[in-house]
Formats: sequence, C-alpha cells, structure tokens
Amino acid sequence: MNRLAGKRAAIIGAGSVGEGWGNGKATAALFAREGASLLCVDRNQDAAEATAELIRSEGGTAEVLAADVTDHEAGAQVMARMQALWGGIDILDYNVGISQAGGVLDTDDEAWARVFDINLTGAMRMVRAVLPAMRAQKSGAIVFVSSLAAVYSAPYSYVSYEVSKMGLVRLARSVARENAPYQIRSNVLLPGVIDTPHVTAFVDGETDPATLAANRAAMVPMGRQGTAWDVARAALFLASEEAAYITGVELRVDGGLTA
Ligand SMILES: NC(=O)c1ccc[n+]([C@@H]2O[C@H](COP(=O)([O-])OP(=O)(O)OC[C@H]3O[C@@H](n4cnc5c(N)ncnc54)[C@H](O)[C@@H]3O)[C@@H](O)[C@H]2O)c1
Repeated sequence: MNRLAGKRAAIIGAGSVGEGWGNGKATAALFAREGASLLCVDRNQDAAEATAELIRSEGGTAEVLAADVTDHEAGAQVMARMQALWGGIDILDYNVGISQAGGVLDTDDEAWARVFDINLTGAMRMVRAVLPAMRAQKSGAIVFVSSLAAVYSAPYSYVSYEVSKMGLVRLARSVARENAPYQIRSNVLLPGVIDTPHVTAFVDGETDPATLAANRAAMVPMGRQGTAWDVARAALFLASEEAAYITGVELRVDGGLTA
C-alpha cells in the first residue's frame, strides 16, 4: 500500500474516453492507492474529475487540471499546479495517445501532424516542463506510455500511430541518458493488446465488440487481452523505488505477443 508514499505524481491523460478502466485511469487509481498525491491532467475535465473523484472516494489525494497537450503552455500549467499544490513533482506518467487508422497513402500531412502533436510532441512538452524541478531535487521518475505498435505490426494500418509511438521509445531513452546524472529515471511501456475503452472507441461501429474481443484475445499467446491494471502495475513498478537502478528500458506488457 505504500510503494509511492509521499510521492507527487502527474498523470497526463488520467481520464478515460469511455466507460470502464482506461490505462491512465487505472494508473492514477493505483498510484493513489500506493500513497501518491495525484494531479489528474486531461483535456476532458469531466473525465479527469471522474478519476479524481474515484480516488478521493477511496481516501486518496487527487486534484484535476484541464489541459490539452497540444497547447504550448500545457507543460508550464502542469508544473505550476504541481508547485502550488505540493511544491514540486516526483513522477510524470505520460499516458495520452490517440490512434488514427490509415496506411502511408491514406494519411495526409494534417492527420500525421495531429497524431504526432498528441502522441510525441505533447510528451516532449511535458518532460521539458518537469525536468528543471526534478534536476534541482536530483530525483524523479518518468514513465511514457508507448505501444507495442512501435515494434510490432498489427494486421491493420495506422502508420502515424506506429511511428509516433516509436518516437516516444527513443524520447524515453534520450531523456534517460541526459538525466541519469541527476538521478532521474525515464522508461517506456509498450502495452500490447489491452482491453480498454480506447480500443472500443477506435474501432467503434466497424466490428461487433464480442468478435473484436475474441479476435484480439486469440492473437495473444497467453490467450487473453491485457487489462488496464496490467499496464498500471507495470507503470507502478517503473515509477517506484523498486526500479531505482532501471532507466532507459522498454517494458513490453504483451502477454507474450512478441516473445
Ligand atoms: N488499449 C490498448 O490496447 C493500448 C495498447 C497500447 C498502447 N496503448 C496506449 O495507452 C494509452 C491510452 O490509455 P487509455 O486507455 O488511458 O486511453 P484513453 O484513450 O482512454 O485516453 C486517456 C485520456 O487521454 C485524454 N486525452 C486525449 N487526447 C488528449 C490531449 N490532446 N490532451 C490531454 N488529454 C488528452 C482523453 O480525454 C482521455 O481521458 C495511449 O497512449 C495508447 O496509445 C493502448
């Protein structure tokens, strides 16, 4: 219950696009259960409020900031709020990510730029905003939520997603290398086939949900989709002191899909 006791965490994308548990929502709830104070950041204020309310109902500490990662000021807003609330930041979890269907010939500049702005540039904005405080205190843990799509080809095309998520893998390593002397750790999660509202929203209307779930489970050697809790527990490990000597790694959460 105390793996993050006294830690101040910001989760970017702490809401969920639909009913049920998304990765960001589960991660926020789990971090709070482990003793962290949470700033739930999301462009959807109601979704962030729902997560914060749930945390408070369990006796945890959570506040909300409505911010869009495409806003150039978003990083500064997060950092200012963390300073005002708790005097700084120990953990940043960058969970925001959008999917856009389409291969190379179907993806125009506008769609490509939008996906990159949210999936990759937003992460850069956030990390740039939190690093000075983490450097000054000589500690910090950053977890980026990428995707197995960075390294594994699905049976459908979403090239902007795949390439932006690969960029996030490299960003995590660059941040790790630059900031190791400050005892700041930076790692990246590669979730595989995870059963979240994000996926349902992505394919909504195209596939019957039961068929979709069965097909996705059948892809995985362990015979099931992952859950948001599988992702949250991996994030918890990387954010906690149990990973004190781990930085610059890509952790696959994929039930053996790439084993
Ligand atoms: N579900 C899967 O199978 C799977 C697999 C691999 C990786 N992922 C990754 O997991 C993450 C998604 O997890 P989730 O289930 O919490 O997703 P989600 O789609 O429910 O998104 C979480 C929150 O992000 C917010 N958000 C979206 N765009 C934003 C923006 N521009 N600024 C601020 N907030 C924004 C949404 O409002 C939402 O509340 C993504 O990065 C996704 O790529 C998911």
